[in-house]
Order: sequence, then structure tokens, then C-alpha cells
Amino acid sequence: HEEFTKVKNIATIELGRYEIETWYFSPFPPEYNDCTKLFFCEFCLNFMKRKEQLQRHMRKCDLKHPPGDEIYRNGTLSMFELLKALCASLKALRLFKTEVDGKKNKVYGQNLCYLAKLFLDHKTLYYDVDLFLFYVLCECDDRGCHMVGYFSKEKHSEESYNLACILTLPPYQRKGYGKFLIAFSYELSKKEGKVGTPERPLSDLGLLSYRGYWTRVLLDILKKHKGNISIKELSDMTAIKAEDILSTLQSLELIQYRKGQHVICADPKVLDRHLKAAGRGGLDVDVSKLIWTPYK
Ligand code: COA
Ligand code: NA
Repeated sequence: HEEFTKVKNIATIELGRYEIETWYFSPFPPEYNDCTKLFFCEFCLNFMKRKEQLQRHMRKCDLKHPPGDEIYRNGTLSMFELLKALCASLKALRLFKTEVDGKKNKVYGQNLCYLAKLFLDHKTLYYDVDLFLFYVLCECDDRGCHMVGYFSKEKHSEESYNLACILTLPPYQRKGYGKFLIAFSYELSKKEGKVGTPERPLSDLGLLSYRGYWTRVLLDILKKHKGNISIKELSDMTAIKAEDILSTLQSLELIQYRKGQHVICADPKVLDRHLKAAGRGGLDVDVSKLIWTPYK
């Protein structure tokens, strides 16, 4: 576990029009050991040691969006799905060094992992190599589609995980994109007819974002609903796993245990108070704009 103790090597990166301070160590190949700053192509995510190299690259790079299918477009917001990108763990990063096969989306997946690791603590990464899907969120303008963040997802999860890693790039944080990505992951689960849950452990910021999302979604339903509703029904409506519903409602002290049963108490005044505390709603996912069919 030698790499866990390694100190942060790359202090800043340039990406599109942003210069971004990094948060954590990322295992870039050894030839980058002497660098403290890296220059990323914002479209293919190739990284370079010098600004002039990037400028030369930008004249040739013909990519204007992530190399995948656009499965969602609403105004300037787009989601791209990348297939067969093997990623998300340090082990996977190591494998890539020998296994890069020249396929555009695989190289992109590798670059995305190097980039993402700069903002993900190692504790939130897991160590099994598996097949992942990537969902990359972009803000689009006449110059192209600029990456805002992404989440990864196992193609087949035994544990009903519907999200492995989630990242909003720092210049875009606290604007509701995180909750959009979370909402999107649940919309995919609904289309699959499955309940989902994020892979654990979550970072502090990840947990805060999930708690906010779960609270808003569940309390909005409880507010509108008349009569009894069970956790199972809430789960069927939202694709949120029953355990996550229970823990959210418990942390808000909305669950009572009566005669061997969990009972949800939904006093409108109490719900409103919690909803206010849960923060802004974020950017909504308009499901009518999602064009996607689940993997078989
Ligand atoms: N301080 C306090 N609360 C914060 C916060 C911060 N710096 N960042 C997010 N939150 C909480 C807030 O409750 C916020 O809602 P609000 O703005 O309405 O109050 C909520 O989380 C979500 O905010 P949102 O703008 O939708 O999320 P985001 O785009 O900033 O993305 C993460 C959230 C987790 C994706 C982002 O912080 C990130 O990429 N972190 C690094 C990677 C990581 O830890 N990923 C999760 C583990 S896999
Ligand atoms: Na993770």
C-alpha cells in the first residue's frame, strides 16, 4: 500500500479556461514525477508538461465532446455515456499502463481517472478491477462541450450499486451539479427497474450531497402524499434503496417504532422545516430528454 502514503505531486492543473488547485495524490506515470503543474486538453483529457505542448495539441485535437453517446440534452446541459472504460481504481490505473489499446474511449477513461483521482481521497476508491460505465456531464457552447463532472457505475453490480465515483470539478462545485448527477444515477436505476445505492465509503462531501438529495426527494413525496405510505412504496417510487430511506428519515427523526413496525410521521410543519434546511433543489433532470436503454 505504498502509494497511499505518497504526497500530492501535482499542485495545479490547467483545464479549459480554468487553473485548478488539486486536492490529493494521483498516480501519474513516472515521467511526470518532476512536474508540479499539468496542462490538460479539456476535450480528450490528454495531459502535457508544458503550455506550448498543449497549444500545439489544441490545434490538432478534433474532439469537441467526450468520446461517447450523448444520452441527454437539455438546453446547454449534456450527458455523454462512455462504454467499456475500465477504470476507477488504482489497480486499474496501473493496468492501463500496459493495456492501453489505442481505442479513444479507453484512453479517455484512463485520463479521466488520473484527473479525478486528484480530487478523490484514496479511501473512496476500491480495488477490484471491473467494467465501468462513465457518465460525463458537460456545459455546451459554440466552442464545444466542457466537462463539469462525471460519475462512474459498474456495468453489473451484485450489491445494487448505481454509482461508484462522483466528481464535480472544483470550479463548478456548489452550483447543484452534484445533485444533478445523483438524480441522474437514480433515473437510470428507474429505467432499469432496480433500486440503487452509492458505493461506500462516501466522502464527507459525497455524503452531504446524498443526504441533501434523499431528504429533498423523500420529503417532497411525503408532503404531497395523502394517507399511509410505506418505505417499500417510497423505494419503488424513487429507486432509493430502503436502507437509505430508513437512515435518512431516522436522522431527521421522522421514524417511530410502534408495535414492532416503523411508522413515518409526516407533520407538514416539520417536513417544511427539514426541507428548508436541506438546501437548494439543484438542477432537475428532465426524464423526457433522457434517451437510454439499460444494458442486458
Ligand atoms: N461545504 C458544505 N456543504 C457542501 C459543500 C461544501 N464545500 N459541497 C457540497 N455541500 C453539500 C451542500 O448541502 C450542497 O447543497 P446546497 O449547495 O444546496 O447547500 C450539497 O452538498 C450538494 O451540492 P451540489 O452543488 O449539488 O454538489 P457539487 O456539484 O458541489 O458536488 C460532490 C458534490 C460531492 C460531487 C463534490 O463535492 C466533489 O466532487 N467532491 C470531490 C469528490 C468526492 O468526494 N466524491 C464523492 C466520493 S466518491
Ligand atoms: Na468510490
